[in-house]
Amino acid sequence: MFFERPDSGDLAVLVHMDFHDQHESYGPEEFIELAISAGADPVAVVTGSRQRPDSRYFVGTGKLDEIKDIVDREEAEVVLFDHALSPSQERNLESALQCRVIDRTGLILDIFAQRARTHEGKLQVELAQLQHTSTRLIRGWTHLERQKGGIGMRGPGETQLETDRRLLRERIKAIQKRLAKVDSQRDQNRRSRSRSAVPTVSLVGYTNAGKSTLFNRATGADVFAADQLFATLDPTLRRLDVEQIGSIVLADTVGFIRQLPHRLVKAFQATLKESSEADLLLHVVDAADISRDENISHVDAVLEEIGANEVPVLKVFNKIDALPTAEPRIDRDAEGNPYRVWLSARDGLGIDLLKQAIAELMGEDVMNETLYLSNDLGRLRAMLFEHGAVRSEHFDEDGRSVLNVRLPKKDYLQLLARAGTSEDQVEAAVS
Ligand code: GTP
Repeated sequence: MFFERPDSGDLAVLVHMDFHDQHESYGPEEFIELAISAGADPVAVVTGSRQRPDSRYFVGTGKLDEIKDIVDREEAEVVLFDHALSPSQERNLESALQCRVIDRTGLILDIFAQRARTHEGKLQVELAQLQHTSTRLIRGWTHLERQKGGIGMRGPGETQLETDRRLLRERIKAIQKRLAKVDSQRDQNRRSRSRSAVPTVSLVGYTNAGKSTLFNRATGADVFAADQLFATLDPTLRRLDVEQIGSIVLADTVGFIRQLPHRLVKAFQATLKESSEADLLLHVVDAADISRDENISHVDAVLEEIGANEVPVLKVFNKIDALPTAEPRIDRDAEGNPYRVWLSARDGLGIDLLKQAIAELMGEDVMNETLYLSNDLGRLRAMLFEHGAVRSEHFDEDGRSVLNVRLPKKDYLQLLARAGTSEDQVEAAVS
């Protein structure tokens, strides 16, 4: 009898260790998601704790035996480590386990490779992969063979290895050259965008917060969104029309993750750099996630790292449909400026509020209206004149003052408050 196996992906054993000298302790949940995202089929998660990593095998010998038993029992094809392994640790582990071993960096790179959509994204991923490989090339092919020795099985030999290294170096150079070109092209695009003064709004946030979903919902575009991490890799730009301020460019970016290997942060600089040059950042948060606050701090820290902390931020608390009570709404600070919008990108709830908040934050939310003021609103009329907001005035047959006004909405609301008038008391029509 044969065992039925899902043909989903590589059967994988996951290893997640806690170290006592580690600042931040976190569970294996994110790693399991990452593994699934990469197309692996996790059959077991091995956890443990140690004072510090073992220099030879990363884990201790007892743990190594435990992993080996599970690999054999489950017939696993790959062992994934939720940590950065040195090339020699990876090699030693592969020898001991007789199974492919991939570390966290390799896994994330694999996901990036699967998700890269644009030319630049693909180049960046390939570059990072080649750089990752070049440090590991030394391992050759022999240590994984169950059958040792024999003609042609004695390893690649220096010459082959040298050739590979040279090819790798050449490929890295070629990609860097192409990337430099893409970079200058992007600068040109950015310049032409700023020349035409189209403001840019960048969506940033923890992976899986719902950025792509919001991006699609707001722009009406059908961009790939999946219940997988890293549905987005490259800055994807779309036009978004916001009634009061006209067109803006909305940029979707790759999601942040905790402990992104430094080399990858560099590789995706272009994506992150885009965010630091935006006029406004929409920090999308999965409001229903139990690690919501941690995720927010993490994203804030990364934004600071890439110098994007100068850019104004509007928090978007997404997935309110998954919360027991929240309604779409705008939270405002003491000055009345929006700092947080609650919405559901999936259900399309609160998108109008988001646009309104963007309009308010992106400069003057200008009112261009005709107001019909009856005699009892004389105080408001005087104030509007004083404010220099009146462009023309005449009186209608009812004796009402018909004012053509133009002023920031915020100022108008302040004048109303000072005149003791509510918005409803004023009949208005867009002129
Ligand atoms: P990365 O590209 O990995 O950074 O992810 P992302 O932030 O772009 O997330 P994405 O839009 O791919 O959404 C992730 C998951 O959350 C998908 O399964 C969406 O269907 C789901 N999702 C997005 N918005 C909402 C929402 O408002 N409510 C609920 N319940 N789920 C949502």
